[in-house]
Amino acid sequence: MKKLGVAVIGVGGWGKNHARAYKELDSTELVAVCDVNAERAKSIAKQFGVKAYTNSARMLKNPEIEAVSVCTWSTILAKEALKALNAGKHVLVEKPMAANTKQAKVLLETAEKNGLHLTVGFLMRFIPGLQHIRRAVEKKEIGELVCATAKRFSQWPERIGDVGVVKDTAIHDIDVMRYIFNEEPIMVYAKTGNMRHRKFEDYAQIMLTYKDGKSAFIESNWLTPYKTRLLTVTGSNAIMRLDYMTQELWIEDQKETLQPRYAWQEPLKLELQHFAECILEKKKPLITGVDGLKALEIAEAALRSSAKNKAIKLGASA
Ligand SMILES: NC(=O)c1ccc[n+]([C@@H]2O[C@H](COP(=O)([O-])OP(=O)(O)OC[C@H]3O[C@@H](n4cnc5c(N)ncnc54)[C@H](O)[C@@H]3O)[C@@H](O)[C@H]2O)c1
Repeated sequence: MKKLGVAVIGVGGWGKNHARAYKELDSTELVAVCDVNAERAKSIAKQFGVKAYTNSARMLKNPEIEAVSVCTWSTILAKEALKALNAGKHVLVEKPMAANTKQAKVLLETAEKNGLHLTVGFLMRFIPGLQHIRRAVEKKEIGELVCATAKRFSQWPERIGDVGVVKDTAIHDIDVMRYIFNEEPIMVYAKTGNMRHRKFEDYAQIMLTYKDGKSAFIESNWLTPYKTRLLTVTGSNAIMRLDYMTQELWIEDQKETLQPRYAWQEPLKLELQHFAECILEKKKPLITGVDGLKALEIAEAALRSSAKNKAIKLGASA
């Protein structure tokens, strides 16, 4: 079977997991890693027996590399993703995809012009329990969808210094809501604030409303001493609850609680396997650049809503 030649740009806390997963997958061949921190690049490259670079432009000249993961700091993602797309490589860019929607649009245009895959690291979508919820909502197994609530809390992450909790953390749930509602929200109202972070918000409450009165509520913060990642979806006949960490799913109605069991699987590996398969088999990815752009548009509208203390109507494209 042909393997896809891949590389990772930015092998810090998260990017090194991309490198490890690519190394472990049957469908990919990790060719090289790149990090501006030379010591880090060298040590990760040594660990996986591949070539180290500190300059991505130089690495991207290697024709064995067909696709890259971009896992740099959030505000640098778009610049590195654009370099890779211009070098003819397929790209998986980590969330939040870009520092702003303007940059994200350039990525979309470049990928389209060059006929390349562009996908965004919204790995929650690969968790089997979330796929179950998506199917159940679509088939109305819990009756009519009424609302959904997401909670994503953790302690203050020292490593994040260039974006706040909305673009770093809540954006996962913005994408999840787009995925399970399978339609765009029409309005966003948000409250954000900073307790510990000097520059960016470290807590956010975001409400999305949909036509026909459905709503989604997203609560994210970096103030809670323990990690929580939960989703509750309420239908007219039953509710579904998912714990993203254990991947346990519960479905409760008036009479009983069911617990469909799925073996725990590493979401990142599922995501990268799908990325490689889509390129090798020329299939459309589950998450496109458009999904990345739309999530970012909603995140930016949430920040504007909080700053202006008013609900923001989402445009035709969001
Ligand atoms: N999808 C997810 O669940 C998930 C989880 C964690 C992090 N992330 C995303 O991954 C990205 C990285 O997060 P992290 O926690 O690993 O941060 P990090 O600070 O630990 O690592 C970032 C690395 O990128 C390197 N870097 C910066 N600019 C570079 C450049 N131009 N070229 C090469 N290397 C460069 C840095 O030296 C550093 O080693 C962020 O965008 C974050 O939002 C996504």
